[in-house]
Amino acid sequence: MNTRFKCVYLLVAVAALGGTSFAGAAKAEGLLERGTYLMQSIAACGNCHTPQGPDGPVPGMELAGMADFFELPEFKIHVPNITPDKETGIGTWTDEEIIAAIRDGRRPDGAMLGPFMPIGLYRGMSDNDVRAIVAYLRQVPAVRNEVPRSKFNIPVPPSYGPPVANVPDVPRDDPVVYGAYLAGPIGHCIECHTPMTETGPDFANRLGAGGFVFPGPWGTSVARNITPTGLAGLTDEEIKKSIAAGVRPDGSKLLPPMPFGYYANMTSEDLDAIVAYLRSLPPR
Ligand code: HEC
Ligand code: HEC
Repeated sequence: MNTRFKCVYLLVAVAALGGTSFAGAAKAEGLLERGTYLMQSIAACGNCHTPQGPDGPVPGMELAGMADFFELPEFKIHVPNITPDKETGIGTWTDEEIIAAIRDGRRPDGAMLGPFMPIGLYRGMSDNDVRAIVAYLRQVPAVRNEVPRSKFNIPVPPSYGPPVANVPDVPRDDPVVYGAYLAGPIGHCIECHTPMTETGPDFANRLGAGGFVFPGPWGTSVARNITPTGLAGLTDEEIKKSIAAGVRPDGSKLLPPMPFGYYANMTSEDLDAIVAYLRSLPPR
């Protein structure tokens, strides 16, 4: 059985036992089920780490990395292979080393990752969720694919802060709080939807205001304002359809790089939480 269906099946089974809270469901879910759900929906790490063809992710290459991902005068980005291949992926890394790369931006050899993966937000990923993601990474097929290291003509931060330790689970009973966690540390919606400055996204003054420009094979897309100003006039259902299907109320399709194919797998509870959070943002 496909693991995603297994995960949905399990949630249904737990719900059928009656009265079980979402926090209870999270425990019952198990690490791999939780990791599978996150990786195939809101976390969407594959949006950067899996090679994309004209029809979406290239089959047989899940998380195998992409050379020549993105180039600006400041940097040339190659996205690493994070499959368990021992020579070209992360098969020899310990769980702690993988977690340090995701939350601290530090490789096992001490080298820092450049500021392209949203480390600043990933620092807030809970211990259980980052472990769930590692559990998923351990069981994807190992793919041999050598990817060079990125080149930066700007300084790479010597650190992203003190080593992250002990991030508790975020309770799911308040949708605004849980939605903030999904749209921030897990899904980095707000990294794409906040104007970028030289020191990172301007969360303090323009959180969710949009304006980030993404050139690509699709032409050029501009992240939209997802604060109540930008979403005024849209119903919750319309917002959810934009996120999970990439289709606007007038039927037009939204452009990449927003990972709609992954978001289509989100549960309706998680979509509701995200909408509740977006509605709570200061209007910009
Ligand atoms: C916006 C694109 C992007 C997203 C999203 C992203 N990554 Fe990355 N990731 C990168 C890039 C680029 C690097 C390499 C950074 C560098 O070259 O300095 C990297 C590096 C890594 C590394 C270190 C691998 C190595 O060999 O150095 C790991 C592990 C990793 N990412 C895991 C993840 C996981 C897990 C997620 C989702 C929770 C994720 N990444 C989401 C772009 C991304
Ligand atoms: C990799 C960058 C990226 C990520 C991650 C991302 N978005 Fe987007 N988003 C965009 C871009 C670019 C557009 C505009 C696309 C277009 O105009 O065709 C957009 C459009 C939207 C729209 C449509 C708004 C409208 O007025 O029609 C909504 C809503 C939205 N995003 C919400 C989210 C949420 C919620 C998340 C996280 C679950 C998210 N986005 C993650 C880049 C991103």
